[in-house]
Amino acid sequence: MTNEEIKSQVDTYLEALVATLPDDIVNRAAAYSLKVGGKRVRPMLVFEAMKACGGDANWLPAAAAIELVHTYSLVHDDLPAMDDDDLRRGHATVHVKYDEATAILVGDGLQTLAFQHLAQAPYSAEQKLACILALSKASGLSGMVLGQSMDMVAENEGTDLAGLKTVHQLKTGALIEAALACGAIIANASPEQVDALARYGRAVGLAFQVADDLLDVEGDSTTIGKPQGSDIENGKTTYVSLLGIAGAKEQAQQLCNEAIAALQCFGETADPLRSLAKYIVERKQ
Ligand code: IPE
Ligand code: IPE
Ligand code: MG
Ligand code: MG
Ligand code: MG
Repeated sequence: MTNEEIKSQVDTYLEALVATLPDDIVNRAAAYSLKVGGKRVRPMLVFEAMKACGGDANWLPAAAAIELVHTYSLVHDDLPAMDDDDLRRGHATVHVKYDEATAILVGDGLQTLAFQHLAQAPYSAEQKLACILALSKASGLSGMVLGQSMDMVAENEGTDLAGLKTVHQLKTGALIEAALACGAIIANASPEQVDALARYGRAVGLAFQVADDLLDVEGDSTTIGKPQGSDIENGKTTYVSLLGIAGAKEQAQQLCNEAIAALQCFGETADPLRSLAKYIVERKQ
C-alpha cells in the first residue's frame, strides 16, 4: 500500500469514527482538528512495522488510536499557555477557530477516545493490553507529557544538547516509538523484531523532531501548515539554535543512518520503513 493510500484510509476511518459522536461544539471541534489533515506519519509507521514483521491484522484501530493521541497533543501544544500558535495543518488552530475551553476539552476527549478505541479494537485481550500499556506509557507523565513540560521549562531556563535530546525523545520520540511497538504487537512480532523496531524508533523519533526544528527555520508557512519561526519567537532551544542548520542536518542524517542500520534483521519487507526514515529527515512539511 502506498503512503497516500494509508493516509486516505486513516482519514476516512477517523472521519467515520468522530461522526458517531453526539452533536456538540466539542465534537464538532474534535472532528475539525482531525479532518484538517496532517501527514499521518505515525499510522504509516504502525502499518509498515506490522508488515515488516509479517503481520496482516486490522491495523486501522491501532493507527487511529496513535493519531488521536498525536492530534490531542497538537491541539494542546498550540494553546496560548504553550506555544501560542494560530495555524495548524494549514487551518486556524482549534482555540482560534473555537475557543480555549473547547480546545482543552477537545484534547482531553481525543486522548480518552484513543484508549476507548483500543479497548474495543478487534485484537486479542493480550494485544489490546500491550497496546494500551505502550501508548499510555509513551504519552503520559514519563513520556510525551513529561517532554512537553521539560520543553516549557527549557523555554525559560534554556538547556544544553543532552537536555534537549531528552526533551525531543520524550515529547516526540516516545509516541513514534509507541506507533512502531503497536505495529509489532498486532503482528505478534518476535523478540528480535521488537528489539530492532525499538532501536529504529528511537532513532527516527529523535530525527523527526530534529527535522521539525529545521522546518521551523527553513520551511515556509504554507507548506508546513503552521507558523514558520514559532520556535524563534518563543525563544526555544532547538537543534538549530544549538548546532546551526548544517549541524542539525548532520545529526538528522546520522540518525537516519542509525535507523536504517537497526533494520538489518529484516529483508525487503522493511523497505518501506527504510524509505520512511529517509522521508522523515528530508521532508519539506
Ligand atoms: C508535529 O507533528 C509535531 C511534532 C511532534 C513535531 P507532525 O509533523 O507529524 O504533524 P502532522 O500530524 O503532520 O500535522
Ligand atoms: C510538539 O513539538 C511536540 C508535541 C506536540 C508533543 P513542537 O511544538 O515543535 O511541534 P510543532 O512545531 O508545534 O508542530
Ligand atoms: Mg511545542
Ligand atoms: Mg508547537
Ligand atoms: Mg516544532
